[in-house]
Amino acid sequence: MRLEDRQVLAAIVSLGVERQADVSLSGYTSLCIGGTTDLLRIKNHDSIPGLLQLLDDHKIPHKFLGGGSNLLVGDGKLPWIVLQLVRPEPDVVLKGKLAHVDAAADLGRTVTFCAKHDLGGMEGLIGVPGTVGGALRMNAGAYGMQIGSYVREVKLYRAATRKIETLRGDQISFEYRHTSFAPDDMMLAVTLELPSKSYQEILQGIRICNEKRRASQPLGQKSAGCIFKNPPGASAGRMIDELGLKGLSVGDARVSDRHANFFVNAGKASAKDMLALIADVRDRVEKAYRVKLENEVIVWHE
Ligand code: EPU
Repeated sequence: MRLEDRQVLAAIVSLGVERQADVSLSGYTSLCIGGTTDLLRIKNHDSIPGLLQLLDDHKIPHKFLGGGSNLLVGDGKLPWIVLQLVRPEPDVVLKGKLAHVDAAADLGRTVTFCAKHDLGGMEGLIGVPGTVGGALRMNAGAYGMQIGSYVREVKLYRAATRKIETLRGDQISFEYRHTSFAPDDMMLAVTLELPSKSYQEILQGIRICNEKRRASQPLGQKSAGCIFKNPPGASAGRMIDELGLKGLSVGDARVSDRHANFFVNAGKASAKDMLALIADVRDRVEKAYRVKLENEVIVWHE
């Protein structure tokens, strides 16, 4: 979607928000898939309520983009604009066992920064791409831990109240790859309370998780991590693998040969290819196991 109303464009500038016109979102997603739209880059959290009011007043549909690492964006000209936070410097401030982290901070760098200051607990997340805000929204986890366990406080923009609010950790429910945040809430910052551990001990944990990940996941290929959530008590990857579907392709969208719940863009896959592959695999799993796999990947199709 192209913003053309001069009044709107002037108001965006006066809010200190940067507009980039006609951006290809394929450059902003780890799948390297996605059509074009305008991107608004937000440097100051305080501009958000005014910006959202402006977009609502002018009925401009919009979505919040984090690190784009768990996201499948549609092809062509997209019917909405995208908002993204600009990462501040510094993006992590430590006070004792508390880490105050901006939502735009890179997750892996945050884990290592905290580790260097003897704060651990998040070793499992080291190889998970994306931002801290994205990880928080979906309660990212791996190797027996999840980020929600460490959340003390979250600063967010709530679409329902149109205000920036702070929630305590115990006011939020964190479940397997799911949180109680509303879809139109925008994560702004989080305070994590992390256990003290020596850097050496944390590093050891990080190494173990990295090795496991390297051995089982197609790192370095264009993917969005696991496509489906695991059904209770089962592994979607194992089910897909048992059906012999590794290597199954639609165009350049392909079920990874390494981990069957990772679907990779092996060249120039379109969103249409990837969606067709997802539908096909879901169908085959449902026929074979009578289990309907739920997407873990977020789809922005229309
Ligand atoms: N397996 C196969 N074939 C495959 C993939 C897996 O047989 O192609 C088997 C494995 O051998 C293992 C079992 O399935 O016995 C489970 O596999 P894995 O340890 O890789 O775990 P997973 O359940 O497939 C989950 C998360 C990953 C996370 C890993 C490690 C989900 C959907 N996936 O995968 O998270 O990294 O555990 O903790 O919860 C993600 O969320 O995007 C993601 C990659």
